[in-house]
Amino acid sequence: MKQFGYFDDANREYVITNPATPWPWINYLGTEDFFSLISNTAGGYCFCKDAKFRRILRYRYNGVPMDAGGRYYYIKDGDTVWNPGWKPCKTPLDFYECRHGMGYTRVTGEKDGVKADVLFFVPIGHRCEVHRVRLTNQGKTPKSVQLYSFAEWCLWNASTDMENFQRNLSTGEVEIEGSVIYHKTEYRERRDHYAFFGANRPMDGFDTDRKTFLGMYNGFEAPQQVLAGTSGNSRAHGWSPIASHRFDLTLAPGATEEIIFVLGYVENKPEEKFSAPGVINKAKALHMMQAFATPAQVNAAFDQLKSYWDGLLGRFTVESDVPELDRTVNIWNQYQCMITFFFSRSASYFESGIGRGMGFRDSNQDLTGIVHMIPERARQRIIDIASTQFPDGGCYHQYQPLTKRGNNDIGGGFNDDPLWLIFGTVAYIRETGDFGILKEPVPFDNKPGTEVSLLEHLKISFKHVTDNLGPHGLPLIGRADWNDCLNLNCFSDNPDESFQTTENKTEGSKAESLMIAGLFVAEGKDFAELLERIGDSDAVDVKKAVAAMEEAVKKDGWDGEWFLRAYDYYGRKIGSDECPEGKVFIESQGWCTMARIGADEGLCDKALDSAVKYLECEYGLVLNNPAYSKFIKDYGEISSYPEGYKENAGIFCHNNPWVIIGEAMAGRAQDAWRHYQKITPAFCKDQSLRKVEPYVFCQMVAGKDAARPGEGKNSWLTGTAAWTWKAVSEALLGIKPQFDGLLIEPCIPIGTYHIRRRFRDAEYDLTIHYTGKKGGQFIPYRPGRQVLEIEL
Ligand code: GLC
Ligand code: GLC
Repeated sequence: MKQFGYFDDANREYVITNPATPWPWINYLGTEDFFSLISNTAGGYCFCKDAKFRRILRYRYNGVPMDAGGRYYYIKDGDTVWNPGWKPCKTPLDFYECRHGMGYTRVTGEKDGVKADVLFFVPIGHRCEVHRVRLTNQGKTPKSVQLYSFAEWCLWNASTDMENFQRNLSTGEVEIEGSVIYHKTEYRERRDHYAFFGANRPMDGFDTDRKTFLGMYNGFEAPQQVLAGTSGNSRAHGWSPIASHRFDLTLAPGATEEIIFVLGYVENKPEEKFSAPGVINKAKALHMMQAFATPAQVNAAFDQLKSYWDGLLGRFTVESDVPELDRTVNIWNQYQCMITFFFSRSASYFESGIGRGMGFRDSNQDLTGIVHMIPERARQRIIDIASTQFPDGGCYHQYQPLTKRGNNDIGGGFNDDPLWLIFGTVAYIRETGDFGILKEPVPFDNKPGTEVSLLEHLKISFKHVTDNLGPHGLPLIGRADWNDCLNLNCFSDNPDESFQTTENKTEGSKAESLMIAGLFVAEGKDFAELLERIGDSDAVDVKKAVAAMEEAVKKDGWDGEWFLRAYDYYGRKIGSDECPEGKVFIESQGWCTMARIGADEGLCDKALDSAVKYLECEYGLVLNNPAYSKFIKDYGEISSYPEGYKENAGIFCHNNPWVIIGEAMAGRAQDAWRHYQKITPAFCKDQSLRKVEPYVFCQMVAGKDAARPGEGKNSWLTGTAAWTWKAVSEALLGIKPQFDGLLIEPCIPIGTYHIRRRFRDAEYDLTIHYTGKKGGQFIPYRPGRQVLEIEL
């Protein structure tokens, strides 16, 4: 089996040793509001705040060849032209290595005695990428080489890049001063921001017009200027503005030349936009160039970035006898939680950055994966999300990060949405003890003057479910529940409309969801506990509603061996033994077992047994079984996918942790651990089959009914990150934050392990011996360090 790289745990890096990975293996740079996507061959792009409205580099999605465009360095050595990251020239290298680390990527290439070592990172406190390029002559004779940089601009609405280029091909403008190339398209009008790409030493040539640099009929792999060893010193007027610097270098044997490049973004006040008519005010850009003018400054900024991640990841660490577990928990799962929190589902190598914004349900789940690292960001996110809610508890399904306003671009009326606000807020308070957040005034639909407390928002979220019950007393599904593709009120037969946004026929609908029912019971129990803790008498009614829902599930939501999935528009069962296909679904088994509905009567154990029997395969648990083999108009998008993919019997990794947690709550350690190992990439043996990055979870792995079971897709931005974090940190390793302390209640068959856990102002140093006993140990919160040995 072909391997493309390995984990370097000591450095918290994944090291790629073969650039021809089965799919671009990417990393993310940035921690605040300037972000980059960077592949193992330095492809990708960056943006400030919003990948659609403040995109800086152009990118060609889903193109041929794959992953075209990025920040490329070309080295011309005699007749040979090569790139440190192999692409785009693909000249065979004598050595290649890409180290994806925490917020940085380092690409090293060697060819004919020249070594190029390029470090990319986004420094804290600055809106830029820093590229530190080091060229070393490893040979015994002097070398004369040329180094070219390359980046292509896109600082306009990135979606018009594909739709309105009749305009864009006329708007491009640049300025060049010293070694800095400024991109100022649309700056003359309403934009008060521009981008720049500069170097810390005088350049020997440049280009800003793509055609001059590449040649009309050449691709990135054969820029005519580089092939000729020249620069056109071109100035872009419209067409396609780029930035390329050229440096002519002579390297003595053993000598290293280091050039620092800064690719940045600047906003100016409207009254300070220009320094002279038509000339942009460059002060901020020059200031940023100055901040990274010397190697010492770059090293200091890089060290600061490293300490930032040391600080975050140091808040929870495990030491066990299972290296795959340790590296997932200590490094990659937490890192992915941060990235997913930053990006929601907006920009990845599967999400264009121009389509989806911040999801209401997604972001509430994502913040639970980072709240132990950056609680203040989680707090802000909760307020932002709640501010888009409607007075009746309903929600926009997403909001745009730049404006924080909700929109209906991917539909609305998903009846699970409101409950996730309770889920996110409870997780936040359990981690921080910040009950004060409940008193924060939060508007409806961002309208000033409509503010009520966050607690009121939670109450109406809860009420939104009880206000929308169906004929069996179960929650009406609305447009869809967590499964966006189970469209029971849609009935679309027009291939030109989207299942998500097509008007739903909700009137007269009997479509009810057992997934929402389980979510309601699980979150309702948490909510009641919160209300009791703050002395709010509404706890009584919440408990009553929860108890009624449990009864409704037991009465009409149980199919005999497992929990039903739903009732359709007409009140017919979905996810029942009486259905020819789609007999068993994962969502209701996960949520109803996490809610412990009917646990005393043995329903949870039976449901979990059924999940194992019908849903488990070699690579995880599939979403439904048997897969739908044909399109069913009454069910919508779920049956639009071929068998084994996405929501039609794919292994939708996001929901596997629900079963893992359900298993752990039922004390079934072996099952919980096995399910966890199957979806966790660090345990995966076949990188070629899995295809996507071996260091992050993906949304979906092809299920047992697919053509190639085990093939991963949609890596990085997925609720899987936060949910596997919850599963492993709380359910398996057993560190469960409570309102007033930590409950230690593991369920993992790995013997003794060691945990260091920062919790508020406390530092717990725990040695845990898990022997399989039921029940946990509660440690009340007390600031300071505590060293404990616990046997359970
Ligand atoms: C995607 C969406 C998420 C949804 C899931 C299942 O991951 O981002 O909101 O719950 O698909 O359809
Ligand atoms: C599609 C996808 C689903 C995603 C949704 C977002 O339906 O299958 O996973 O949540 O789009 O709009």
